[in-house]
Amino acid sequence: MIENKIDSLLSIMTLKEKIGQLVLYSGSWDVTGPPSDIGNKEKYEKLKNGEVGAMLNVTTVAGTKELQETVIENSRLKIPLLFGYDVIHGFKTIFPIPLGESASWDLEAIKKSSSIAAKEATASGINWAYGPMVDISRDARWGRIMEGAGEDPFLASEIAVARVQGFQGDDLSKKTTLAACAKHFAAYGFAEGGRDYNTVSIGEYELHNTVLPPFKAAAKAGVATMMNAFNEIDGIPATGHKELQRDILKESWDWDGFMVSDFASISEMIPHGYAVDKVHAAERAILAGCDMDMEGRAYEVGLEQLVKEGKVDEKLIDDAARRILRIKYRLGLFDDPYKYCDEAREKNDIYTKENIEASRDVAKKSIVLLKNDDTILPLKKDTRSIAVIGALANDKDSPIGSWRAMATANSAVSLLEGIKAAVDKTVKVSYAKGVAVGVGERNFVRELKINQEDVTGISEAVHIAKEAEVVVLAVGEEAFQSGEGRSQVSIDLTMPQQKLFEAIWAVNKNVVVVLMNGRPLVITDIAKKAPAILETWHLGSESGNAIADVLFGDYNPSGKLPVSFPRSVGQVPLYYNIKNTGRPTNVDSMVFWSHYTDEKNTALFPFGYGLSYTSFEYKNIEVSTPSFSAGGAITVSITVTNTGKRKGKEVVQLYIRDLVASITRPIKELKGFELIELEAGKSRTISFTINEEIIRFYTANKKWEAEPGEFKVFVGGSSKASLEASFFFKK
Ligand code: BGC
Repeated sequence: MIENKIDSLLSIMTLKEKIGQLVLYSGSWDVTGPPSDIGNKEKYEKLKNGEVGAMLNVTTVAGTKELQETVIENSRLKIPLLFGYDVIHGFKTIFPIPLGESASWDLEAIKKSSSIAAKEATASGINWAYGPMVDISRDARWGRIMEGAGEDPFLASEIAVARVQGFQGDDLSKKTTLAACAKHFAAYGFAEGGRDYNTVSIGEYELHNTVLPPFKAAAKAGVATMMNAFNEIDGIPATGHKELQRDILKESWDWDGFMVSDFASISEMIPHGYAVDKVHAAERAILAGCDMDMEGRAYEVGLEQLVKEGKVDEKLIDDAARRILRIKYRLGLFDDPYKYCDEAREKNDIYTKENIEASRDVAKKSIVLLKNDDTILPLKKDTRSIAVIGALANDKDSPIGSWRAMATANSAVSLLEGIKAAVDKTVKVSYAKGVAVGVGERNFVRELKINQEDVTGISEAVHIAKEAEVVVLAVGEEAFQSGEGRSQVSIDLTMPQQKLFEAIWAVNKNVVVVLMNGRPLVITDIAKKAPAILETWHLGSESGNAIADVLFGDYNPSGKLPVSFPRSVGQVPLYYNIKNTGRPTNVDSMVFWSHYTDEKNTALFPFGYGLSYTSFEYKNIEVSTPSFSAGGAITVSITVTNTGKRKGKEVVQLYIRDLVASITRPIKELKGFELIELEAGKSRTISFTINEEIIRFYTANKKWEAEPGEFKVFVGGSSKASLEASFFFKK
């Protein structure tokens, strides 16, 4: 039906109009009347001529309506615009940064936060979210690690699907859902040295087995669009990568959405050394299967000429335009181009009490309890006195994090506010800043220079720490220390923050460290000393309340790390699903094995790890039958008991190892998980099904297959899961 409509529309479109659909502009000029500056004036004229398919960064009902009207009232064919926006972890109500939210392992909660983000964005005229970001990353130096779901392809795939479903719902044509965009296709998270936009040189097997699975899962879940990437992969820029975009994504996966370039990534193929000029870049990109040009200005200068010269078959332009029109039809824009321009919704659906409550709910589920010696946590609400220390504790902005969409600056609940709201009136809550956090980069430029040496505030902090029964110390990173373009060589806490911790710990051992950060940090020294550590990421609008929920035990923490925390920056890239190598262990106490001579190989806190205020015991791992063959399955079961004194949640994790294969396989791979809740003293038997699908991988035959042989299976509460059994797969 839609395809017929597209056929008839395409049949009356001129080449210029078709190319117009492939053009995306960023626009941020005032919405009252045509823009005054030359660049924007030109965009405005093109909008009127039907030479633009989509806009980015135009928000509000008034803003989007005005541009939609410009197109509908002036252009020949009145093809409605898409309005894209970086809706990464909320729109106005801000949820935890994606890496943090992934620590919840709670797919329902994750789906819900995306659906609320979609509801708010669509109430502001947006119909296309530039998320989810599904890049696997194992390098904490890379600032954009905060935007993804961590290091593991299985967990990231499950989360990708939850986010796509949250954004798109079950019906793209509803007013409250929008088109999602899985990005960045592909391998952007594997930039050399963690330097943003840099070279990627991973091999074909790593690409298929580690990088592509979340994209494939998103494609299968019907993601409307994808975005390619700034990086090259083994010499070929992702934007000009035909094998990836045409052969794998569109042919082999049979995906019918459209591919947008990343910001100017088509014309960036010139400095990459892959195109002579914009015309050449346009040729490379369209041949490779990139359908829409985001601000690269290459398609508008190059495509018409390329078709006329016979260098690009017009059929390719038709296919790209068809894909874009298809999404516009699915969104229902042809029935009503103004369907997202609803002033009443804009007034009523954004930043509602309900949405803010939902943000608190996901936020508390995203907190990971890293350490709790002597069960110092949860704190009692009638603790005599609490010293709250650290600039981040009194910061209402940093918890909003990077990629904050339409969030109001300084709108988050600070930790200090959260604590004050949670405790009895009789409790003395004192506050001292101690030291500044670090060198943040506000928005695009490095303008916030902080004197890294200034430790003069420590004495005041020590003073209040001495007087208090317990100290809550917030340390970590400011909002803009992570995110795009924020790669760092050091992932240590800044020296003043380390000094602050030492000084406080010297006078009061009851220190609860609250980490706020967008990437794994090296906290090896603090982890040795502090009795309790909470990883709270950048938690969003309700940060302080959510942290207080966990600090005082109103919520029993259930988060598990989606990414390994290194002991030293020298260990990165660091991840649990490593290969064994030929020299995995120390034989005869010689140095000739794969290790560092000055540090352990293991993470300080591994993938999948997180404590609770109760404890869980795993027993009786059982495999239903010793082997299965094609079409069959086995069941792995385990009994989990809550051995503590409180009700709690646990993420039961299943890992496998394929012992011998046509290409080497990781020593452990997550293949299933279940988030369960158990009353104190209660047990439950959890079962996982293992079938051919689960043990498949991209083999030496260059196909996804299950290979016969022996497998080990592990179940536990982290990637260290040690209860083990084995099974065989027979062809
Ligand atoms: C980022 C994308 C983003 C785009 C539009 C680029 O710099 O890499 O993730 O969607 O800008 O803002």
